[in-house]
Amino acid sequence: MTEVSFTQMKDGTQADYQMLEQLETDHIQGLPDRVMTALAALSNGLAGYKIDRLQHSLQTATRAQADGASIDWIVAALVHDIGDDLAPLSHSEFAAALLKPFVSEEIVWVIEKHGLFQAYYYAHHIGGDRHARDKYKGHPHYERCAHFCEVWDQASFDPAYPTRPLEYFEPMVREVFSRSMR
Ligand SMILES: [Fe+2]
Ligand SMILES: [Fe+2]
Repeated sequence: MTEVSFTQMKDGTQADYQMLEQLETDHIQGLPDRVMTALAALSNGLAGYKIDRLQHSLQTATRAQADGASIDWIVAALVHDIGDDLAPLSHSEFAAALLKPFVSEEIVWVIEKHGLFQAYYYAHHIGGDRHARDKYKGHPHYERCAHFCEVWDQASFDPAYPTRPLEYFEPMVREVFSRSMR
């Protein structure tokens, strides 16, 4: 059996769904490969900065590691802008959704809110409210997110910083995105 019997899901059999379940498990095991491919593709993204999006992502992860972060945080830093191409208006939520099954609630929260927190550094230059993040003041993860932006993210646009290559982070990507969640 290599294909389901149905044309509408409601007509599927137990054998159909058991086969699909196995195929889905196999598909999930390919996630680390797809994350690596999506990261590499960031080199063709958003223009105008001194370094491309892949280099920014690598630099953010490199700074996270230099700051003593765990593998989970380093991988989160690496993928935090992975949604820039497909979800340019909600890239923070995109990366948070990618990470959610594999890392802590704190990391997911920080990645989901990083775009808003990062606006602190530029929103006032383009007519926005740089203090919009203040609505989360007092939240248990507020300081962690502010630190993520200040020390790792907003600082990572420097062509002179000794940034590690994508291959360096591959084992960490494989470790985090290979975790069994079912
Ligand atoms: Fe971002
Ligand atoms: Fe970023």
